Amino acid sequence: MKGIILAGGKGTRLYPLTLVVNKHFLAVYNKPMIYYPISLLMLAKIREILIVCNPEDLKLYKTFFLNGEHLGVKIDYVIQEQPKGISHGILLTEKYVGNDSVCVVLGDNLFFGHGLPQILLKIKKDVEKNAGSYVLGYYVLDPQRYGVIEFDKKGNVVAIKEKPKNTKSNIAVVGLYFYDNTVFDKIKKLKPSFRGELEVSSLNNLYLKEKKLKVELLGRGFAWFDMGTYHSFLEASEFVYTIEKRTGLMVGCIEEIAYRNGWITKNELKKLAAKLDKTDYGKYLLNIVNEQK
Ligand code: G1P
Repeated sequence: MKGIILAGGKGTRLYPLTLVVNKHFLAVYNKPMIYYPISLLMLAKIREILIVCNPEDLKLYKTFFLNGEHLGVKIDYVIQEQPKGISHGILLTEKYVGNDSVCVVLGDNLFFGHGLPQILLKIKKDVEKNAGSYVLGYYVLDPQRYGVIEFDKKGNVVAIKEKPKNTKSNIAVVGLYFYDNTVFDKIKKLKPSFRGELEVSSLNNLYLKEKKLKVELLGRGFAWFDMGTYHSFLEASEFVYTIEKRTGLMVGCIEEIAYRNGWITKNELKKLAAKLDKTDYGKYLLNIVNEQK
């Protein structure tokens, strides 16, 4: 399975913050926003990652992440000229993905919860073995902001509606999707929506029609943030700060995950820590280096 991070778009909902700075490099407490989706793919043990970004910021991503080798992953890049939707972004990765399946995560989404890696690994295994697709649902108070899952009385999924005015449930589809290789042919059948985008909800409805869409609900104890507005952006920062301060463990620390996955050596981790100088982040990594097993 290959990992895709959709990080195109102009971040217009965060203007003026993002007038000249790419949204995905804004600080969510102590690390750039994009660390969180990357960490998610790494927790799912996905080592081939493609970042879909806009042309102006390609250089920025490349300077920052290089080819990913220092994190034990392979990072490639593809340009999305225009923000034409999530499905459009996925379609751009067709060549890179080849015959593989994909895990797609939005560059501004943050997930946290005990047991999350196990859920990701379970879904990944299922899609690799049995094909089809997965979306994850999360209870929200403001479903009209999202793709919303509609259920029948028996709890079966009947439709996914993109930003409906009249919502029939409070279960939002989060920005994390798993698809088999038929995803590209399906996207080619889509038509742009009222907002001129190839919507991910339309894609998910195609899988649903074929009875090949599974839904995993992230229940109580999980936190999910779409950091696309001032409000959610601040909330995410506060959340990470609080959890890290209380537990002493970092959230979305890609260097730590690379090391704990066995993808980089202790010495390599030490070098990454040294680069961060005497910051708390660097000290945290050094503590891991000096950990007694
Ligand atoms: C997108 C999707 C929506 C999903 C949301 C999750 O919304 O279209 O279905 O619920 O991401 O973050 P957008 O960020 O484009 O408004």
